[in-house]
Amino acid sequence: MCGIVGAAAERDVTPILLEGLKRLEYRGYDSAGLVLQDETGLLRRVRTTGKVARLQEALAANPASGRCGIAHTRWATHGAPSDRNAHPHVSRDEVAIVHNGIIENYEALRERLRTLGYQFESETDTEVACHLIHAHYERTHDLLAAVQAAVAELDGAYALGVVCSREPGRLVAARKGSPLVIGIGLGEHFIASDVFALLPVTQRFIFLEEGDIADIRRESLAIYDRSGSGVERAVRTSELTADAADRGPYRHFMLKEIHEQPRAIAETLEARLGEDRVLEAAFGPKAAQLFQTIKRVQIVACGTSYHAGSVARYWFETYAGLPCDVEVASEFRYRPHVVSPDTLFVTISQSGETADTLAALREAKSLGYSASLAICNVPESSLVRESDLTLMTRAGPEIGVASTKAFTTQLTALLLLVAALGRHHKLDQAAEQQLVQALRQVPGLVEQALQLESHIETLAERFADKHHTLFLGRGVQYPIAQEGALKLKEISYIHAEAYPAGELKHGPLALVDDTMPVVAVAPRDDLVETLKSNLQEVRARGGVLYVFADETLGMASEDGYEVFNMPAAAEIVAPILYTIPLQLLAYHVAVLKGTDVDQPRNLAKSVTVE
Ligand code: M6R
Repeated sequence: MCGIVGAAAERDVTPILLEGLKRLEYRGYDSAGLVLQDETGLLRRVRTTGKVARLQEALAANPASGRCGIAHTRWATHGAPSDRNAHPHVSRDEVAIVHNGIIENYEALRERLRTLGYQFESETDTEVACHLIHAHYERTHDLLAAVQAAVAELDGAYALGVVCSREPGRLVAARKGSPLVIGIGLGEHFIASDVFALLPVTQRFIFLEEGDIADIRRESLAIYDRSGSGVERAVRTSELTADAADRGPYRHFMLKEIHEQPRAIAETLEARLGEDRVLEAAFGPKAAQLFQTIKRVQIVACGTSYHAGSVARYWFETYAGLPCDVEVASEFRYRPHVVSPDTLFVTISQSGETADTLAALREAKSLGYSASLAICNVPESSLVRESDLTLMTRAGPEIGVASTKAFTTQLTALLLLVAALGRHHKLDQAAEQQLVQALRQVPGLVEQALQLESHIETLAERFADKHHTLFLGRGVQYPIAQEGALKLKEISYIHAEAYPAGELKHGPLALVDDTMPVVAVAPRDDLVETLKSNLQEVRARGGVLYVFADETLGMASEDGYEVFNMPAAAEIVAPILYTIPLQLLAYHVAVLKGTDVDQPRNLAKSVTVE
């Protein structure tokens, strides 16, 4: 949830740390800070509330440099965003740390450290870890040994970067439950929460494993596992380049990512479709044998990824004839489960680092599922590494906090899974062939749906001054309505709720009047006639309707009922297509309202805390 960068080099690391923080800002942007260490070991700290740009301004006003340093951009958990809660935290001017995660036993540790004479200036759990490392350092006089002893006492999740004034040029990093990578340069080493932070300086990375601690100097690197034994971890070369996370000509990352969807979907399909069937090999060598045995699917995810799972539930049951349950990860992990035999446990996540989803996966491992499968966008993520099978979504880096191309590529990947499992159940050869043909059309159809943008930009003007909106869908389109509502509230701060259209008369209809815009999605399917009746119920109460409808339905705009024609599409892929106008609507409303579209208030891209 927070972003960490660190470096040990022969050159001044200040610009590397600042650029790394800018690239990690999607992880949190309440406050930012860094500690630079000079040749004598002296630590200089600069912290500011707000975004990294404010930290840059502070450094421009009071320049600092150093060849070793750690830096942090924060998403507040313990303690409000403020200068004194910002990282790095420093103990007695000697030990400085940056931390991502939550230390659960911080209160007990804080009481003990108080009895040792440590004073606390922040409300954070991180400061506790900082003083704890210092207390151990007083005994060990060795930074690695001090960090090893301290983390043995920590409950919870952490990624840490630590420097010490008595050991110039040495940086110790630790990981448990929160991501951390080591970047390998030429005669220099780096740490970061995510490879993007370091792409301007290296493409070679080591992904620390759970419990690993790294002892890093400019010219050397040693890694120890949770038992303290020295270990070798594989060095991987990233295919991403530094400009992969650039905005290009677009005003916001979100808009760029919306427009990248035709390509992202095409890449998710690439080499995974045969002439008339989905290639099982896409799921890895273990898939063919396993899939024959699967009789049920359990999906777990959060937020937008949960909505993708909710769409897939309809698909599994309708086309594959497989029973499917979907649950938000934060609920799944905290309740007992009755697991039916031969159930596949599927997680969906853009980042692969969402704490609740990861915890649910870990919980699931002891519950008797046949196997776990992750649908994920980040190949090096914890979720991918800890799952039995994976299907990568290949959306490319998604920087905007509001998930867009990750969602439509998740839906695409889920349809591949529906085919690969469904052929052992209800999905016959002809139906699979139709599905494959429909999938091939999707990039082109999404491209056509994007052509609606100028109309939607105009439509957005009618939402910008509203306080509430309703989104309606039926059947498989209900989760699409939920996703549309989530997008709008997330970036425009307008209250938005989604309902299955048939449920309106059971309560929400009371909200409808001429100040409440109502958005509906109406593809050509078996439910469209009942949907039309539901829309008339809204209109009869003075509600103003905006309907995205399949062009072949011939629905016409009338007073209080505006229709936007969508390209005709096969019913099975329609949820992917109808997502596009809802994303564009949320985006243009947010732009009109002048919100921070890519980094909306109170949120962060990757929720690596519970
Ligand atoms: O990385 P994940 O897909 O696991 O993230 C899950 C949610 O936090 C995420 O989808 C969130 O809801 C998005 N900000 C929605 O746009």
